[in-house]
Amino acid sequence: MNQTTWRSPSNIALIKYWGKKGNQLPMNPSLSFSLDKAFTETTIIFSGGTDSNKVDVSLTFEGHKNKHFEDRIAKFVNSISEYIPSLKGLRLEIDSYNSFPHSSGIASSASSMSALALGLVSIEHKLLGQITHFSDFQQKASFIARLGSGSAARSVYGGYSVWGATPDNSLFSNEYAMDINDLIHPVFKTYGDAILLVTNKEKKVSSTVGHQLMESHPFADSKFTESFKNMELMLEVMKKGEQQDFALLTELEALSLHAMMMTSNPSFLLMEPQTLSIINKIRDFRLQTGLPVCFTLDAGANVHFIYPDKDVKLVKSFIESELLPYCVQKQWIDDKVGLGPVRLT
Ligand code: PMV
Repeated sequence: MNQTTWRSPSNIALIKYWGKKGNQLPMNPSLSFSLDKAFTETTIIFSGGTDSNKVDVSLTFEGHKNKHFEDRIAKFVNSISEYIPSLKGLRLEIDSYNSFPHSSGIASSASSMSALALGLVSIEHKLLGQITHFSDFQQKASFIARLGSGSAARSVYGGYSVWGATPDNSLFSNEYAMDINDLIHPVFKTYGDAILLVTNKEKKVSSTVGHQLMESHPFADSKFTESFKNMELMLEVMKKGEQQDFALLTELEALSLHAMMMTSNPSFLLMEPQTLSIINKIRDFRLQTGLPVCFTLDAGANVHFIYPDKDVKLVKSFIESELLPYCVQKQWIDDKVGLGPVRLT
């Protein structure tokens, strides 16, 4: 059967992308790691091959027809068919599900768009067989994923990746993400990420609106300049294995992102009181134990508690006794740096 299935992870950025230009190009470079347990699985059955210029898309999400997602995905697939012309005239039956609950506040765009992009590039490869190196395949999937959701560009790789051009590394690009695992110290490759779920409500302001608000933001230019500097510093501390500096820089970037939200016009606030309580607890824990643990935040209220895996015992008992009381129904996801997408067919 003409079918392709990919499992692709969500990722969490340490240097954040917030603000874009042109066709989904970032205003500053970002760096993230792919998660292990939070992923989307997407199967595409393809058939047809008519003269039409259109791609015919039908979609089910978690077993159910979803007209809203179907329209969005059909529009997206048709918009990128100029980069994958062999999709034109095909009929695609797409079926997708997330490993994490829909209401968990975890953004699914990175995992879902990367899983879809990997599937679409696989179809091209099956039909034309032109791509010989896996890295070229990944780069094309990252490029296509980026057009669906910026952060998705980074999810086609396992471990750590960078998306966005920097003055110091000519390989980094605004068009697609790059695997940076060879550039960093091994100590970071086995970090844990406890995703602490403080709310299961839909977020009040979407990332799309947040990115747009950066266009007229009074502090935008200095934020972009700082993120460029932070990226350079982050690559340096990660190369050297400096875990304390990594922790401080990660927190600075997370709070800078939320500072942008709070000072946008109109301003918005995605943190909840529990978010701040958890942040303060994590900082106290770092001070008391000297462990290089830290937090980061997505565009939402949930907290990612990031720690070296050798400290897992102490960290888990701290989570259970000190942090879970702030989580909605004591929910958290015991995640870690993941190995990246897996092809299931
Ligand atoms: O990819 P988008 O448009 O959902 O934006 C993602 C923005 C952040 O998650 C806040 C930061 C990032 O770099 O992932």
